[in-house]
Amino acid sequence: MEEQQLKQLLSSLSLIEKVGQLVQLSGEFFKTDSLVVGPLQKLGISEEILGNVGSVLNVAGSKKTHEIQKEYLEKSKHKIPLLFMGDVIYGYRTIFPIPLGLGATWNPDLIFEAYKVIGEEARLSGLNVTFAPMVDLVRDARWGRCLESTGEDQYLNSEFAKKMVAGLQYNLENQHGIASCVKHFAAYGAVEAGREYNTVDMSERRLRETYLPAYHSAITAGSKMVMTSFNTYDGVPVTANKYLLKQILRNEWRFDGVIISDYAAVSELIDHGVASNDAEATSLAINASVDIDMKSPCYANELIQLIEQGKIRESQINEAVWRVLKLKNELGLFENPYQGASCEATNIFNNENARSLALKVARESIVLLQNKNQILPLVPNKQKILIVGPYADNPSLIGLWAVYGKKEETVTILKGLTKYQKPDLLFYESGCSILNKTDELGEFGSAANFQEKLVWDNQKRNAHLEKALSLGEIADVIIFALGEHTMQSGEAGSRTEISLPKNQKQFVKKLMALKKQTILLCVSGRPLVLTDEVKQFDAILQLWFPGTEGGNAVADVLFGQTNPSGRLSMSFPYHVGQSPVYYNHFKTGRPLGKSNHSNRFVSKFIDSPVSPLFPFGYGLSYSQVKYSKLSVDVLEQQILIHVSVENQSSRDCYETIQCYIQDVSASVVRPVLELKRFKKIFLPANKKEDVLFSLTLEDLKFYRQDMTFDFESGQFIAFIGPNSRDTLEVSFEI
Ligand code: GLC
Repeated sequence: MEEQQLKQLLSSLSLIEKVGQLVQLSGEFFKTDSLVVGPLQKLGISEEILGNVGSVLNVAGSKKTHEIQKEYLEKSKHKIPLLFMGDVIYGYRTIFPIPLGLGATWNPDLIFEAYKVIGEEARLSGLNVTFAPMVDLVRDARWGRCLESTGEDQYLNSEFAKKMVAGLQYNLENQHGIASCVKHFAAYGAVEAGREYNTVDMSERRLRETYLPAYHSAITAGSKMVMTSFNTYDGVPVTANKYLLKQILRNEWRFDGVIISDYAAVSELIDHGVASNDAEATSLAINASVDIDMKSPCYANELIQLIEQGKIRESQINEAVWRVLKLKNELGLFENPYQGASCEATNIFNNENARSLALKVARESIVLLQNKNQILPLVPNKQKILIVGPYADNPSLIGLWAVYGKKEETVTILKGLTKYQKPDLLFYESGCSILNKTDELGEFGSAANFQEKLVWDNQKRNAHLEKALSLGEIADVIIFALGEHTMQSGEAGSRTEISLPKNQKQFVKKLMALKKQTILLCVSGRPLVLTDEVKQFDAILQLWFPGTEGGNAVADVLFGQTNPSGRLSMSFPYHVGQSPVYYNHFKTGRPLGKSNHSNRFVSKFIDSPVSPLFPFGYGLSYSQVKYSKLSVDVLEQQILIHVSVENQSSRDCYETIQCYIQDVSASVVRPVLELKRFKKIFLPANKKEDVLFSLTLEDLKFYRQDMTFDFESGQFIAFIGPNSRDTLEVSFEI
């Protein structure tokens, strides 16, 4: 529709029709089921508003969306189509690895390809907007939503954020892909103690330097929408935070797209204690320029009265409605309200192309954490192998937020192994359940137990243990597929203990007595504490939730068809008590190992190391790569950093060369090192490559004491290596 026509449409709307556009409700209000993603409650919304609601939450499927849209438009006076929005975070039907695994690929270009597929499949389900990418920076593994993040570094997260938005919205103008809604703005990943929905409080410097860049990257890449986060910032809940939403998002970043609250976050301003009723909550949110109220009664029931009382201006409503109508128009909804749902294409989901891409991504997401005596890769059909554990033949490799995925389409680990191992050399036994107590899942526990028969009685437990022990006796190699329950991560999945479930650890101890070669495959939505496991196992592979093709990817890595190239994008703690532990920390005045004070009076724990078990950027391969000849040339406008890398093995590999910088002394404290560039290169067997990184002064800018964003001359150190710990370093002066 031409803009002029759109403006006429806006001016022709009644107040009720306008307010309706700013309300988003879930499926039960449209007489259909929808995904339950938050607390269900009755809202007391009037029929008039219901008949004019602007968007639908988490209803997908072309038939369902088509029916709802058709029925709605038949009754609609102005024929303004509904927007369908839903959570397609890392896959619609073809499920890719969770974003923490995507981050471990260090391959944004590959993830761009993945998100093109994700956007296309989501579009063909009738959705118009997906609440992705989630770009919250995470440093605390206790938080369940680490699962949805690409990790602890703002530069790496920013590289992924822009590619995910570009992939989702690829060719959007020609009716392809899906609009992206970047979330959760802002700094939700910094919840205190990793506790879900908890307080966030930090300096403006930390906010701008560490937590905001990835959102900015997504918006610069054209994300059509932004979702506000549940948390506070500087004492004000984000959904009412004018500093974040108006000062930064609207004014500084010039974002003129739609801002939507998170689920019921407008009404939760009362629970936060900044509003005493729905009317006050509504006024705070609309004055902070939140356009759409997701699943709360506030906008629907209070906006009109607030205008009639002169507490807010109708022009504020008009601005919000204009942004919503503009989005609907940009997506072509007026011309084709059914969009992807009208497509008759066959073989549209989970097709060969999508699955082969999911396999490629899953292979690159797997991180080899340990490989004692090089027991990996295995040789097909050379040894008797026992695959054991609750994830050995479990289709739940798609994780919690794969809300539209079909578990039965998942390739399990056992299935994947059959590609390489003949039946008489491959034994399987589940051995133990994922959990033995449902209270580890909080209130969800009894429901999960009901569905999955999680808790085994003693007889069943002993029978499976006996079977595992007897098969373990026969096997040469025991592969343990262990991990946390899907509901132990994701939203509302914060944990204070982040080791493998206790019953699984007891099971491991019993089988270790067989003294066989052992491999751990770790399935988790967060970094787990694997301090015991590094002592027990010969080899450890971190799988994350690897998605639909997970079993094939694991098998390809175990048997060497794929040389593992994954690198951690989030540190693995040595002990949960270290949390939050992250690589780009400050030096402190008493740095361990560098202070003049005695070893007692330095920044450390007396009962745990300070450094993580596995650092940011860490990952092994089946090759040995040597770094040498690091040098820096400081030119007028550039800083050129050269390094040589040599694959000293007979196996081709992919190496992620990481370039970090330390600003040694500045007007404010600076991190011990910060990622500034990286390159993932193919390195043929026995080949040497010279690699060059080019930085500018722009890369060295930071928020100085007066909060100006600028560069300060002085001493710097460049660190280059395969991770943030094992680096070559060279000093240079600017
Ligand atoms: C949830 C999540 C958010 C999601 C939204 C809609 O509470 O916080 O990530 O997009 O509700 O399902």
